[in-house]
Amino acid sequence: MLTRERAAAEAASKARAFKSVALVVGSTGIVGAALVEILPVPGVPAGPWKVYALSRRPLPPWSAAAASSSSDPDAVVHLQVDLYDTAAVAKALAPLAAEITHVFYTAWFYNYCWSDAEACQRNHAMLRNVLSAVVPTSPRLLHVSLLTCSNQLGVVDPFEPVAEVTGPYSEDLPRPRLKVECHDLENALHDGIASRGGAVTWSVHRPTTIFGFSPRSARNVVSSLCVYAAICKKANDTLRWPGSRVAWHGFSEASDAELVGEQMVWGHLGPAFAKNKAFNCANGDVYKWQQLWPMLASHFGVEWSGYVAEDQRFRLEEAMVDKEALWAEIVREKGLVETELDDITNWSFVDDVISAEKEQLDTMNKCKEHGFFGFRNTVRCFDKWIRRMKADRIVP
Ligand SMILES: NC(=O)c1ccc[n+]([C@@H]2O[C@H](COP(=O)([O-])OP(=O)(O)OC[C@H]3O[C@@H](n4cnc5c(N)ncnc54)[C@H](OP(=O)(O)O)[C@@H]3O)[C@@H](O)[C@H]2O)c1
Repeated sequence: MLTRERAAAEAASKARAFKSVALVVGSTGIVGAALVEILPVPGVPAGPWKVYALSRRPLPPWSAAAASSSSDPDAVVHLQVDLYDTAAVAKALAPLAAEITHVFYTAWFYNYCWSDAEACQRNHAMLRNVLSAVVPTSPRLLHVSLLTCSNQLGVVDPFEPVAEVTGPYSEDLPRPRLKVECHDLENALHDGIASRGGAVTWSVHRPTTIFGFSPRSARNVVSSLCVYAAICKKANDTLRWPGSRVAWHGFSEASDAELVGEQMVWGHLGPAFAKNKAFNCANGDVYKWQQLWPMLASHFGVEWSGYVAEDQRFRLEEAMVDKEALWAEIVREKGLVETELDDITNWSFVDDVISAEKEQLDTMNKCKEHGFFGFRNTVRCFDKWIRRMKADRIVP
């Protein structure tokens, strides 16, 4: 039997065939899944990349880690670990320590039974566990990137706004004040790499509402809205707009999951003067929900109606109660990938997104000034992710 040292040496030698070795933490999440698709593609800078894709649950059938897009079958390796279990994280990551060059941290776990303080404490512990397993023991480690959220969003309650500002939200505004005694995740990142005295650089990426594919994500607006439309179609109902007048008529912005992934890759590989900084990550355009709503309706063949009046507003969280059986029927009838309604929707999150009472926009100047010019057309991006949901048989 191989000793642990010999196994690690052999793994390191095999890894040398890959120029860069990424640990994508939260690989089945909305951005993690995009990164696992982006990194192994031939031609990605600093490639060829090997990807260790880490999630808590077994792989879903749609995951790129299950069927690597790279021609090399070793390019994506899945690790199933509970990040909250310190010993399990240390044990799972020890054999990879010699290989890892880049850590992309995109995990987040929220359980509605937890208090805000507990959610905060648990997410801190998860990040700390990864950093303490990797940072001191990975000589090749160059950079750690962290996915958090825009300054206009709170860390625990995503819609706890910061103070009124006179313009769009910029990165230099103070982070939202937490309602509980807990540090921002960004502080845990700084503490976690401090022992390397600057040899390991960092970047923080702060998207606004993310449009992406992962049907397993705890907060995927696109998958929830597709399911709402499919349920309306099945029940012969109109796709009614549940949200606010401001969200319907006013400007909103979104962050494409692939764009966030691209910005994180740039955070790792970009110029030295862009290192050790936090960046907003929105698409760089604005849209109105009244542009997206007819598109959603047409994908599912339903009639739609827009904002009517304040007393016509409703919450999807209430309207979608007891729809599990209807969803199971749709899945069965249309031969979709087996999913539970609770797993692929988050009605309260969607309610929050579409109930905005004021326009909240982030400025993208800082990342452009540092050399990242990525952008997305949000209308096309919404259409793209609906098509992907349908193509992967997640929705009819
Ligand atoms: N979603 C949005 O619209 C949005 C908007 C702005 C900012 N953000 C930020 O993005 C970050 C990620 O949030 P998200 O909601 O987008 O996440 P998500 O899509 O739900 O992904 C979470 C990922 O973390 C993994 N994970 C959770 N708990 C774990 C554990 N105990 N052990 C191992 N893996 C675990 C999940 O694995 P499993 O699949 O196996 O559970 C999944 O891969 C957060 O900081 C959030 O504030 C998100």
